[in-house]
Amino acid sequence: MSPQQNTDTDESTEAFTSPVVIDQAVKGPDDAAESQATLSAEIADIESQHKQDVAAGKKAETQPRLNYAPYRSSILRHPTKDPRHTDPETIELFSPAFGHRDIGTLESDLTIQADGEPIGERIRVTGRVLDGEGRPVRNQLVEIWQANSAGRYIHKRDQHPAPIDPNFTGVGRTLTGDDGSYSFTTIKPGPYPWKNHHNAWRPAHIHFSLFGSEFTQRMITQMYFPGDPLFALDPIYQSITDQKARDRLVATYDHNITEHEFLMGYNWDIVLTGANRTWMEEEDDD
Ligand SMILES: [Fe+2]
Repeated sequence: MSPQQNTDTDESTEAFTSPVVIDQAVKGPDDAAESQATLSAEIADIESQHKQDVAAGKKAETQPRLNYAPYRSSILRHPTKDPRHTDPETIELFSPAFGHRDIGTLESDLTIQADGEPIGERIRVTGRVLDGEGRPVRNQLVEIWQANSAGRYIHKRDQHPAPIDPNFTGVGRTLTGDDGSYSFTTIKPGPYPWKNHHNAWRPAHIHFSLFGSEFTQRMITQMYFPGDPLFALDPIYQSITDQKARDRLVATYDHNITEHEFLMGYNWDIVLTGANRTWMEEEDDD
């Protein structure tokens, strides 16, 4: 399993890292009173420098920076040493295990987990897990977690004033088929505030985990929705400095997936290796 780095694999390290207090007297890297304008200026400076570097012949950065300053808390908690000192076979002795029988076919539908229907825009997110040669990656455990349509997670530290939906947990899982395909039926998540700076909001997103064939291969990423106005403002999305790599995290609206009077459809393929690789939360990228 990749240890957490500068991106939000779970909510304990994302939206709730900094104290709730907004104090103008607070100084330092977690100063929650900083303005979006301040952050946006930093984001623009880094992007401009990256473009200059690429124009000068440097390779485009397709993976997120661990020391991406606009993502304030990441500066204090991203790994500075190689975390991989454990024998993977030893980990397998006490890590969770799963088999095909453990995954129910209904677990990929997040809209049927309670007696009532969750509130929000019903969507289907489907795509394929592929290797760098375009070959399907079969029987992969794909897990997702997300906020509800109001942007609220069921998490004790998410206390911002948006409603909990009693009919929505925000978690689901499935196994890829022989063609590498996966499909989730869910509710479109809302954007939500976090404590990176004053008035910081995350673009709507769904967290994805791919388990691989053993625990040490787990990879984690996020999927976004097309046209989100918060992309330019979000230090997590912007910590990937290459626009093409960012684009690969954004699903495509697909009217062929959309169902008559029932749901909206999005397509998102996950590419594990090669030039078109989907960004993943790396443990050894610096
Ligand atoms: Fe999130």
